Amino acid sequence: MKALVLAGGSGTRLRPFSYSMPKQLIPIANTPVLEYVVRNIADLGVHEIGIIVSGRDNEIQQALGDGSRFGARLTYIRQEDPLGLAHTVAIARDFLGDDDFVMYLGDNMLPDGISDIAEDFAACRPAAHVVVRKVADPRAFGVAELGPGGEVLRLVEKPQQPRSDLALIGVYFFTAAIHQAIAAITPSARGELEITDAIQWLVANGADVRASQYEGYWKDTGKVGDVLACNARILEDLRPSVEGVVDETSVLVGPVVVEKGARIVRSRIEGPAIIGAGTVAEDSHIGPHTSVGRGCAVVQSRLARSIVLDGASVTGVQGLHSSLVGRSASVGITTQSTDRYRLVVGDHTQVEVAA
Ligand code: G1P
Repeated sequence: MKALVLAGGSGTRLRPFSYSMPKQLIPIANTPVLEYVVRNIADLGVHEIGIIVSGRDNEIQQALGDGSRFGARLTYIRQEDPLGLAHTVAIARDFLGDDDFVMYLGDNMLPDGISDIAEDFAACRPAAHVVVRKVADPRAFGVAELGPGGEVLRLVEKPQQPRSDLALIGVYFFTAAIHQAIAAITPSARGELEITDAIQWLVANGADVRASQYEGYWKDTGKVGDVLACNARILEDLRPSVEGVVDETSVLVGPVVVEKGARIVRSRIEGPAIIGAGTVAEDSHIGPHTSVGRGCAVVQSRLARSIVLDGASVTGVQGLHSSLVGRSASVGITTQSTDRYRLVVGDHTQVEVAA
């Protein structure tokens, strides 16, 4: 069995972060989402992993390397234009050969793993085995109608009038039967070759297509609110450790990680929280549910339920909450006493201030 991880896409819902970095590298508890994905796959005993990247994404290759760190071998495959999930399978055909494979969307977090589903697939080897989950608004997803035994009766991509509330989430298991289906379908209204249409082609042609309802935690990290929620959830499992320096006037409460070279000075860190390597926290109150990346400075500030990316600084700001601060960004107070706010706001950035 092989794996195909999709790490392309433009990430429009995660602007402005996705302007400067692939959305799959957004850190959750200071680890890129994509790293959780690769580890989940390696945990299945699958070591041959193809990573679909879009044309500009050297950064993904730099972040994951050759995969040896995860006990896997990574093959990078470029998708020049966003022509759909099924299109990625077509361009990965040489890599996949006729092997079974798991396809995994690289911005989906499933910290409870997918080993039970992998075992079900390996035992029965249906042409396709999809993973579904009840969602409040299925119109944003591929939607599955299931028979009593978990067999898939029909799949529709983003239906206006969904016939069930079972959404396809970002994990699919396939045998080589999927290649014939992909060759048979045509682009959807949004101009993409939809994997949902390819699987529906299998159903319509009498192939065995099964589904499992996923019971564990699942989050598509495509939007800022979901990234923050997922970060809070993953931090719940944090194992505390202090490798940096905490001065005697500082207090750590609950599970806190202080990475190497970080310095906590006259501050209160309320877990779960993680302070990245080389970061300085001074006269501040950080946490709970907060991740601060590497090489950051948090000075005279109060910061909760937030993520601060590498190299950023937060100075003199009280009450920063549910915020995502980008790499090397600075959030501070204006030195002009006449100005209430002074902002340099990037494209598609969101700023909210107290009324
Ligand atoms: C894609 C699939 C959709 C699936 C979803 C899961 O949608 O086309 O069937 O339910 O991923 O996140 P997209 O994110 O490309 O709109």
